[in-house]
Order: sequence, then C-alpha cells, then structure tokens
Amino acid sequence: MSTHPGKQATLHRLEKLDKKYIWHPFTQMQEWEKEPQLIIESGKGCTLTDVHGKRYIDGVSSLWVTVHGHRKKEINAAITKQLGKVGHTTLLGLSNVPAILLAEKLVNIAPKGLSKVFYSDSGSTSVEIALKIAFQYWQQKGPQFQKKTGFLSLTEAYHGDTIGSVSVGGIELFHATYKPLLFPAYKIESPHCYRCKYGLSYPECQKTCLVHAERTIQKYASVTAALIIEPLVQGAAGMLMQPPGYLKKIRELCTKNNVLLIADEVATGFGRTGKMFACEHEQVAPDILCIAKGITGGYLPLAATLTTDEIYRGFLGDYREFKTFFHGHTYTGNPLACASAIASIDLFRSEKILSKLQPKIAYLAKGLKQLRALEHVGEVRQKGFMAGIELVNNRLTKEPYPVNAKIGSRVTLECRKQGLIIRPLGNVIVFMPPLSISLKELQRSLQFLHASISEITKNR
Ligand SMILES: Cc1ncc(COP(=O)(O)O)c(C=O)c1O
Repeated sequence: MSTHPGKQATLHRLEKLDKKYIWHPFTQMQEWEKEPQLIIESGKGCTLTDVHGKRYIDGVSSLWVTVHGHRKKEINAAITKQLGKVGHTTLLGLSNVPAILLAEKLVNIAPKGLSKVFYSDSGSTSVEIALKIAFQYWQQKGPQFQKKTGFLSLTEAYHGDTIGSVSVGGIELFHATYKPLLFPAYKIESPHCYRCKYGLSYPECQKTCLVHAERTIQKYASVTAALIIEPLVQGAAGMLMQPPGYLKKIRELCTKNNVLLIADEVATGFGRTGKMFACEHEQVAPDILCIAKGITGGYLPLAATLTTDEIYRGFLGDYREFKTFFHGHTYTGNPLACASAIASIDLFRSEKILSKLQPKIAYLAKGLKQLRALEHVGEVRQKGFMAGIELVNNRLTKEPYPVNAKIGSRVTLECRKQGLIIRPLGNVIVFMPPLSISLKELQRSLQFLHASISEITKNR
C-alpha cells in the first residue's frame, strides 16, 4: 500500500509516540518496542482499517465486545442524542434517565429472579461488586451465617484483573505472581474434557467432575458465601467448554448447600453463545449476574451486577445500622454508556439478532470442522460465536507447543498479513467475530485461519 510521504512521516511519528508513552495491557513491552505495530484508525461493520489504509476483519470483536459491528448507525445516533443532553452525571445521590431505562431493560432480558441492577464500568468491577455483595449479604443475614466469608471457584477461571477477581481466578500464568496479595478461594477442578483432570473421557466418565465438585461444595458450604463460575465456557483459559448439564447441576448444588451462585457472563453475555445469556441454555438463574463487554454493543465501558430481591433486601435498614452497600465507581451508570446499551439491546429485537445468528453458528461449526483436519490442531471448541482452536505439538499425545515456539502469536501475525485480526490465548487461537458478521466475511475469516495455521505449523 503506497502512502504519501507527508502522511508516512505522521504515521512514523504515531508509532514512535505509542512506543514512547503507552504501556500496553498483557504485553511484554520489550518486544513491543522492537517490533512494528498495527495502529487502527477507523472501523465500519466488521472491518477495521489501520493508519496505512489496510483493512482487516475484526475476528476478535475488539476483545469480545463488538456485537453489531463498528459505527452502527443506531448506536452512533443514540450516543449523539445523549451527548446533546448530558455526557455524565453521578448515580451517587442522583439518578439519570438512560441508567433508569437501561436497568428496566436489563431486568427484562436477564434470567428470571434478577431484579436489581448495580452499575460499574468493567467486567472486573462487576465481579468485585458481586463478591462484596455476597460477602456482606451473609454478614448481615444473622450471626449463624457469619462464617460464610469464603468463595468457591474453578481452576482455570478468569474473572478479571482486580485483586478480588484475581483471588477467585485460576490461571497460573496471570495470577501466580499476586498470590501474597490475594484472599484464598476453594477450588473446584475445571471440567475441561480435552485435558480431563481425572484422565477420563466424556460421556463415559458420567461427569465424574461433578462428583468431585459436589464433595468440595459440601465440604466448604458452611464457610462459603458464593460460588462463582463462567457459565458454559471458561473463555480466557482457552475457550474451555463445560459438559452439558454441568452448570445446571452446579446451580442445584449451590441451592442445596445454601451457597449463592454468581454467574460471570462478562464474556458469554449478549448473544455470544447463541442465546442472550449462557445460563439460558440450561434454564439456570443465578443469584448474582455479572455483565459487561457486549452490554453497550462494544462502544463504551459499562458493566452491571444484577441481584435478586432477596439479596437486595438484605441491605435494607435504618442508615444507622450501616447495612448500606458502601461501594461505587465514579463513572457508575454513565449516561452515554447507558444510552449506547439501550440502543444495542433494542437492536437485538428490531434486527432479530439471535435468530439470524443461528445459521451463522452452524456455518462456523462447519468451517471449524475443516480446521480439525490440520495435523497440529488438537481440538476445536465452539459454543455459539465463541471458538478456540488448540494447537498442539503432537496430536496423539496432546503435547502442547513449548512457550518459546510462540505458536499462537505467530498464527496471529500471519492472519494479520492475510487481513484478519485475532488474539490468541497461549496456544489457543481464539475466533470471536461480531454477531453481525456476514456469511461471506465468515467464509473469508475461516480461509485466513486455515491458511495461517497451515503455514505456521507446517514444519513443526
Ligand atoms: C469471564 C470474564 N470475567 C471478567 C472479565 C474482566 O473484564 P474486564 O476486562 O472488562 O475487566 C473478563 C474479561 O475477559 C472475562 O472474560
């Protein structure tokens, strides 16, 4: 692509400034500083365009957030309209119109029984809030529940990067360093069938993992406030899929043992798995629901923690009783973000997003099947529009690629050359396009993935 020399100098300067000033997340900056980097200038639909004018399919929904594509007319208009009224006002001691209207919409689409909305601004904060609400709920419920201070979570879990959410996380690479800062959480083995911790295979195993989960829940119930889970898919761990019925059984075990269930739908919410929320696949209603990412259609930082009336009522009392939930973030319920979320949720209905998604999910499944044939593809995992392709050094033994092979990053760079932006999770290639992607764009993305994986793994 030829670029005008004047523009070339500006672009050069941009890259220099980036390297001079920005510390990028989850990035080894020593490498970043040495390598040329991709700088995005604009987006439209499922296409992102870099500063040189090269176009890419957004194969990772700008980190799992974009739902209806970029610069969606209705969302742009909703934000612009709200800008004409007010950009931000606080929810501390005041309310605002979009926050109120959105809360009603969220309660209407959420699993049954969730009736109160507590806003924040990221997936991590929505989890932090869920943990604190669960903890405080039991503390205020009565002296016989005061020992219920702990949390149960899954190994390989990812719930965000703040200290509370890291405490209930389980990804060694991300979380081990911070152990001295964390509160301990009781662990249930991740029900990851490809690398089953019990050496069994599904379905002959008869979900032995659930027998172990039950024992752990029973053992710690009296000292546990809540169990937190990513329903159906442990995303950041590499798109690990739970066997059917797993979530439903976990719900039953929590109810039976008087442990609150927190569903972290930050990644799975807003259509990602083919239904509005992943919990719906197993007719599960959690006691607390965490949502973020796709909530605004992928435009602005917004999150929400939904609870039942029963939990909410546990915080009511005379102000001198100090049952108040003493928590709040400055941009809580930001009107621009809420306006964007209202427009996005309305689009789900007006554009029949979920029913239109079903044939695309089937198309994706077919395409992914072809990737399975590649020699170094160990497993392909898919739930709706969440897909992970695990690359292995040896398919028979499932031996992973060594870290220094940087296989995921290399496939990512190859995909970029072709015109597809993705971001790997270690040796797992993640494909998570906007729900609005066309069949043609899906087809091209799958071709790029196939070609890139073949190219990078051919001599290894
Ligand atoms: C399941 C889950 N929970 C929480 C988070 C954290 O969200 P955020 O990055 O917005 O803090 C993520 C992010 O990927 C996630 O996948």
